[in-house]
Amino acid sequence: MSSRPYVLLSVAVSLDGYIDDASAERLVLSNEQDLARVDEVRAGVDAILVGANTVRCDNPRLVVRAPRLRERRRARGEPPDPIKVTITGSGDLDPAANFFQLGESPKIVYALTSAVPKAAERLGALADVVDAGDPLDVPGMLADLASRGVRRLMVEGGGAIHTLFLAAGFVDELHVVVAPLFVADERAPRFVNPGAFPVTERMTLAEVRQIGDCALLRYLPGAADA
Ligand SMILES: NC(=O)c1ccc[n+]([C@@H]2O[C@H](COP(=O)([O-])OP(=O)(O)OC[C@H]3O[C@@H](n4cnc5c(N)ncnc54)[C@H](OP(=O)(O)O)[C@@H]3O)[C@@H](O)[C@H]2O)c1
Repeated sequence: MSSRPYVLLSVAVSLDGYIDDASAERLVLSNEQDLARVDEVRAGVDAILVGANTVRCDNPRLVVRAPRLRERRRARGEPPDPIKVTITGSGDLDPAANFFQLGESPKIVYALTSAVPKAAERLGALADVVDAGDPLDVPGMLADLASRGVRRLMVEGGGAIHTLFLAAGFVDELHVVVAPLFVADERAPRFVNPGAFPVTERMTLAEVRQIGDCALLRYLPGAADA
């Protein structure tokens, strides 16, 4: 077994690079057709990871929606939903959140050492709370996921999590869906946080696909051969 899973990072952005607006309501950037595509991608992974703030702000379900995809997973001997994974430094997560309440799969919370007691008390009955060190040991977390049989991990945001994975160089494939709108509000979250990592090398554009009014750009790390 590899020491870390294959990591697929997936994001939807506005034309000006934002992943949400600044309102309390979640801004849906992509379209129904793309949500169906994301469902298909989710159905092909062993685990999905989002940050604690996304759990709090968006209350995402993170389950496989389409019955045929759930059946396909069952036929392969897999649970119908991928494992759900989140990261917290505070332990401030609501056990009533969809993340913990929905889905036929284990939930794992990687918490900073100082947050483990709070997270375990609140979530221990619903999730496996794992001490992820302080600062968070990303390679250790990925090795732990690999040891649990996670070969493919889908990272779905938000900005802090995208930044964490990109800065650490742990992204094997990047799916960027560009939605045809501008957010134009500097209070809104961006795809990656500024200044978090130096200019990286160019990536290889592996695919461009039109999905209704959106565009999917699929990148692989490293520059294509000249
Ligand atoms: N368009 C898209 O594709 C998409 C997808 C997902 C989310 N979003 C948007 O993204 C926004 C949320 O993004 P965000 O950057 O605020 O939050 P986030 O990335 O979802 O989560 C950040 C949180 O994760 C924990 N965390 C992250 N790195 C950590 C580390 N190194 N050590 C310990 N804990 C760590 C912390 O949790 P604690 O605060 O608990 O300590 C931190 O506050 C929302 O507006 C959401 O709608 C957009």
